[in-house]
Amino acid sequence: MTSPVRLALLGCGTVGSDVVRLLHEQSADLAARIGAPLEIAGIAVRRLGRDRGDLPVDPALFTTDPLGLIKRDDVDIVVEVVGGIEPARSWLVEALRAGKSVVTANKALLAEDGAALHDAAAEGGADLYYEASVAGAIPLLRPLRESLHGDRINRVTGIVNGTTNFILSAMDATGAGFAEALEEATELGYAEADPTADVEGFDAAAKAAILASLAFHTRVTAADVHREGITEVTAADVASAKAMGCTIKLLCIAARGTDAAGRETVSVRVHPAMIPLAHPLASVGDAFNAVFVEAEAAGQLMFYGRGAGGAPTASAVLGDVVAVARNRLAGVHAPSESAYADLSVRPMGEALTRYHISLDVTDRPGVLAAVAGVFARHEVSIATVRQGPAGGGGGGADAELVIVTHVAPDAALAATVRELRGLEIVRSVTSVLRVEGGA
Ligand code: NDP
Ligand code: HSE
Repeated sequence: MTSPVRLALLGCGTVGSDVVRLLHEQSADLAARIGAPLEIAGIAVRRLGRDRGDLPVDPALFTTDPLGLIKRDDVDIVVEVVGGIEPARSWLVEALRAGKSVVTANKALLAEDGAALHDAAAEGGADLYYEASVAGAIPLLRPLRESLHGDRINRVTGIVNGTTNFILSAMDATGAGFAEALEEATELGYAEADPTADVEGFDAAAKAAILASLAFHTRVTAADVHREGITEVTAADVASAKAMGCTIKLLCIAARGTDAAGRETVSVRVHPAMIPLAHPLASVGDAFNAVFVEAEAAGQLMFYGRGAGGAPTASAVLGDVVAVARNRLAGVHAPSESAYADLSVRPMGEALTRYHISLDVTDRPGVLAAVAGVFARHEVSIATVRQGPAGGGGGGADAELVIVTHVAPDAALAATVRELRGLEIVRSVTSVLRVEGGA
């Protein structure tokens, strides 16, 4: 057998320690698949003295000098599972420019400045793989990056954050409010001590940027993604969704469109939305992830599985390591970044969506006409209206109106809601949610 392919592992936390375990447990199979054994040349961590349990690795391999490790002549591939923007970016740029291929799970860095990594990979003639950065174990980026390259993707809709999916699923199942469901997620170890990146949608927005870049051959960064989290979703919203035969999910949506001048564009957004129970994403519960891809020739594809956790994420990391090691032995490289389409990213106001709006109103002649007039002024077409007893908005309201619109630009829908809030006959707007997936 050929000489070993040697890895520098940067990070040995939740994901890194499972990478070490899997490398140990699967070493014979991995060697057979690659045609050479994989060896760990060194492991960079922050704290040398940290208790790492019974990790099957020589303690002498640990170092607190990642850059020194990367630069070593006996390192062939750099595996980064530290996270964050700096110093990870500097390490990976250094490695790639030196011709050392990189496998990373670092969604934050790829979404913030993927260009720096892709450019360095091109400069150094190295591979850059990052399957684990989106949706953990689910093979998703390789299909977008390779299998679907003969097709034209029109839309990607995903549940890509496990923590928020757990919280929304719990709210749906028990009627709990957001705070109560978050507490449960924290107790069960799904939500981190600081859950901001998850519940405010930053994590999903980073993943949305990566997915959109691959799907539309365009550089999309986290800053291009419209982001709303789930902290404002109420038990009343969940009840409204149920009454419509829907459930609420935090969706990432990346879609092609055209601007006023007829030029092709993309829109990329992350926000909570109602989807019908019949939609394939509606049944994705607990902390699972799923991504629904709509392509011109392939039609609809669904990718489902565990989007987080040490072992599932390490599985994706090792899949990339095997691919990179094979490329290395064959003297070839993976296809480089494909950003030729260079589509412009449309602002959220131009994204096409639908709203579900619940209002508590005064019940007297002309109210429905006045409300309908607001929609008409903003050129928003109403799909359905339901009137019932007041929904508890207070202030002496005596009727509830539940209105679902047809598709319209988000700016027109938002302006409609703003004007409704100002009407004297509207006591309160009790729920506003986007509707996706054909409800
Ligand atoms: P952890 O916080 O569990 O581990 C981080 C590791 O990096 C630790 O081993 C830490 O060292 C080391 N580290 C931190 N700073 C430095 C530094 N300056 N120099 C050297 N080493 C350092 O993170 P995770 O394993 O959870 O996540 C790693 C990456 O994987 C992130 O990019 C994350 O977004 C991504 N990811 C994680 C998933 C998950 O479920 N956890 C899922 C998908 C992606 P020490 O051990 O000494 O503290
Ligand atoms: N915090 C993330 C989640 C981890 O909840 O999905 C995986 O990226």
